[in-house]
Amino acid sequence: VKKEFAGSQAMQLLVTRPVMVITTLHPDGTLNGGAFGSYCNLSGSELGVAIGLPSHTYKNIQARKEFVINVLGAKHVDTLSVFGDACPPNVSEVERAGLHPLEPKRIQTPHVREAVASVECRYLREVEIGYHNFVIADVLCGYCDPDCLDEDGRLDVVKAGILHCVKYPQPVYATFGGYAVGR
Ligand SMILES: Cc1cc2nc3c(=O)[nH]c(=O)nc-3n(C[C@H](O)[C@H](O)[C@H](O)COP(=O)(O)O)c2cc1C
Repeated sequence: VKKEFAGSQAMQLLVTRPVMVITTLHPDGTLNGGAFGSYCNLSGSELGVAIGLPSHTYKNIQARKEFVINVLGAKHVDTLSVFGDACPPNVSEVERAGLHPLEPKRIQTPHVREAVASVECRYLREVEIGYHNFVIADVLCGYCDPDCLDEDGRLDVVKAGILHCVKYPQPVYATFGGYAVGR
């Protein structure tokens, strides 16, 4: 059972700028999953993600005003190519990647069950950029695999093998090797 992070405490699960798999619902209810890298924390409870206008993710967020940010660990690195490739709207990338949906709590869109952490988000507004729009959302709540928490109950990014995309568009991913404790 995943540990719940109520309300904007779920922002703690996103501190590392990881590669994200954003899940959204297509109009017919098929669960869509897309890979995204460009996000930032904007306040204690708001974040922004740059999302390409042609993507299914963008269109689904426009229609339903909600999405889930799922953070995968290194053992699922091979699935990211599925989430980065185009896929017909009646086929779920989550299923195609061999992963599974998990019931959400405060919205309708399912999480990815195998994700280390998943954060439910509600659309607030967006800023036009060009090819991408910067979608701003409220963080509602989140869930984390209890095996990936440190002794303070926070996401342990080393243990979880959180992935960072360090080369693109031919992606190369890096994980953290350890902690450096400052004074
Ligand atoms: C590691 C990685 C990072 C990506 N980051 C972004 C991003 O920040 N913004 C974006 O629009 N697309 C990004 N993409 C491309 C999308 O994943 C791709 O367009 C995908 O087909 C979108 O899926 P969808 O149409 O189901 O929403 C990224 C792909 C990969 C593999």
